[in-house]
Amino acid sequence: MSLPPGFLDELRSRTSLAQVVGRKVMWDTRKSNQGKGDMWAPCPFHQEKTASFHVDDRKGFYYCFGCHAKGDAISFVRETENVGFMEAIEILAQEAGMQMPARDPKAQEKADRRTRLTQVMDQAVQHYRLQLSTGAAAEARAYLERRGLSDEALKRWEIGFAPPGWHGLWAHLKAKEVEDDLILGAGLAKTSEKSRGPYDVFRNRIMFPIRDARGRAIAFGGRAMDPEDSAKYLNSPETELFDKGRNLYNHGPAREAAGKGQPLIVAEGYMDVIALAEAGFGAAVAPLGTAVTEDQLRLLWRIHPEPIVALDGDRAGIDAGRRLMDLALPLLEAGQSLRFALMPPGQDPDDVIRAGGAAAMQKILDAAQPMVSLLWARETEGKSFDSPERKAALDRDLRNAISRIKDPSIRRHYGQEIDRLRRALFRPPWRPGAPRGKAPAQPMPSTKSSSLVAASDEFGEALREAVILATLIIHPGLLARFEGELERLECHGPDHARLQAALLALAGETDRAALRAALEARVGTAPLEKLFALGHVRIAPPVRDPGDSEKAALCLAEELARLSASRGAAREIEEAMHDIEGLADEGLTWRLSEVAKARHNAGRGETEDRGEFDLGPNGARISRDERDAFAELLTRIGHETRLPPKPEPEGDY
Ligand code: UTP
Ligand code: MN
Repeated sequence: MSLPPGFLDELRSRTSLAQVVGRKVMWDTRKSNQGKGDMWAPCPFHQEKTASFHVDDRKGFYYCFGCHAKGDAISFVRETENVGFMEAIEILAQEAGMQMPARDPKAQEKADRRTRLTQVMDQAVQHYRLQLSTGAAAEARAYLERRGLSDEALKRWEIGFAPPGWHGLWAHLKAKEVEDDLILGAGLAKTSEKSRGPYDVFRNRIMFPIRDARGRAIAFGGRAMDPEDSAKYLNSPETELFDKGRNLYNHGPAREAAGKGQPLIVAEGYMDVIALAEAGFGAAVAPLGTAVTEDQLRLLWRIHPEPIVALDGDRAGIDAGRRLMDLALPLLEAGQSLRFALMPPGQDPDDVIRAGGAAAMQKILDAAQPMVSLLWARETEGKSFDSPERKAALDRDLRNAISRIKDPSIRRHYGQEIDRLRRALFRPPWRPGAPRGKAPAQPMPSTKSSSLVAASDEFGEALREAVILATLIIHPGLLARFEGELERLECHGPDHARLQAALLALAGETDRAALRAALEARVGTAPLEKLFALGHVRIAPPVRDPGDSEKAALCLAEELARLSASRGAAREIEEAMHDIEGLADEGLTWRLSEVAKARHNAGRGETEDRGEFDLGPNGARISRDERDAFAELLTRIGHETRLPPKPEPEGDY
């Protein structure tokens, strides 16, 4: 049936979405503003107590801030009444007092044929069900029992049996006077090439009926009883009813369960879906004998903003996950993503549940990784990045992957997260503060955390500068030797540049006390006191013998090298960040605002991150790990690290 032009517009303008929705929800009268057509209610699509479901009556759109359900009056009726597009329009038109246009006879005929085909399919479902209870199906029943399926489960899933003969179903349907054309059209029988008459498609198989979202039987999946059979699973061919790529196994019940708050799980096989649902994960679906298609992804996202893809714990499972990721990347939008749950090696969800029950499954689902982790793993796993060329190749691959995301805001977030992982990967292994060998695999999704990481990096570097300056002040003899390095050093710490300049000016001075006095004359006492009080940081006491001076020289050289290495890496990261985020036009502005936020965070005294950060005496934040590593370093510079918090009155400085 086709609608005359303008019909839908007319329908929309005559329909009040608030009225349509109002029949299904209780408005939150305090939050709503009826005069403005601004209405709020607990969401009818997911379980909640608060009112996150918003209706804009004037625009005729709804959106749920909890489950991201969105649409207009037509989609609302489709979802809540479980009807198709045309039926939804019929319902709304009737309410609006609009006459539906007469059905186009061709479309009517097509609809009628579909109805008849589904009736034939239902007859087949009944037939196969019945066959499962016959003597011929003893082996099949034993098999299903071994697989842990109860009688109730068999009934719930309408599991049946196609006996080994060639004409069982055909004969049954013919006896019921079903036309040949319908049996063939439903994909239940095929005509033989040798023109020996039609024969059953499914023989000696356990039968899984496949229903569409509205519960109509559209196809079968048949599992071979004979392990020698060339096809373990045989699915119905594509028919007028069955489009493999646009349907999902268990679609209807899963949608309902997801609406009640269950996580949506995408498994690979029918038995997985059944095992999941029987174990309490009712919102489980599977594609129908093919890899997940774009249409199926869209169906999934209509049910849930972030389906969890359960990947079989083998190479094929991981490959399937990666293909799905490639399919999903360009389609990502806000509130529309995927997570991936990897089963243990050699297991599928059915195996996991049989071995460890729902709890084992829940644990794996809880550990599901966001897509960005899978992307990162694919580009980095088993590879080495020990040369600039390899790092550049990695950046190129990551950029290519990220550039396929169309949504600018999502793309930016991916860029940022990838950058964080990259930073962790390329962080030199000796570097304090980095959880060794662990960081790259652990995604940290919040932007706040990563700006804090950056802040702690900066502070670590400032401490390193302090060590270099302090060591030179304690060991003036080293000044001449390290003059060049000192000159090249980029100092960012508080007063460090002034101290650096003064030290360079006094590079000929070899007497500690004289140097100290001359420095004070140039920069005042405060910067020096601050330097030596820095970080609980007890700078080494006067070192008298030249051996210690040599040791200090070694440490100094090491410190200088490390600082320049980490600054080099920082610069590289900075560039990559520009590159990656530059993909989004607003990337730079956004980055600048993040930096501003990071600075703000770093300067705040009160923070939520007490667990990981201490406040340094100069007000800067010190990561505890960093600080501890730093104290250890200082131990190596002098032999004794304990000095009173304030410089000794008659000390050397
Ligand atoms: P699997 O081979 O992983 O089977 O195929 P399974 O689901 O674990 O089945 P059991 O546990 O051995 O009974 C996963 C899915 O791939 C499709 C089916 O949809 C199956 O459920 N498939 C598999 C086919 O369509 N044809 C095949 O020959 C094999
Ligand atoms: Mn299996």
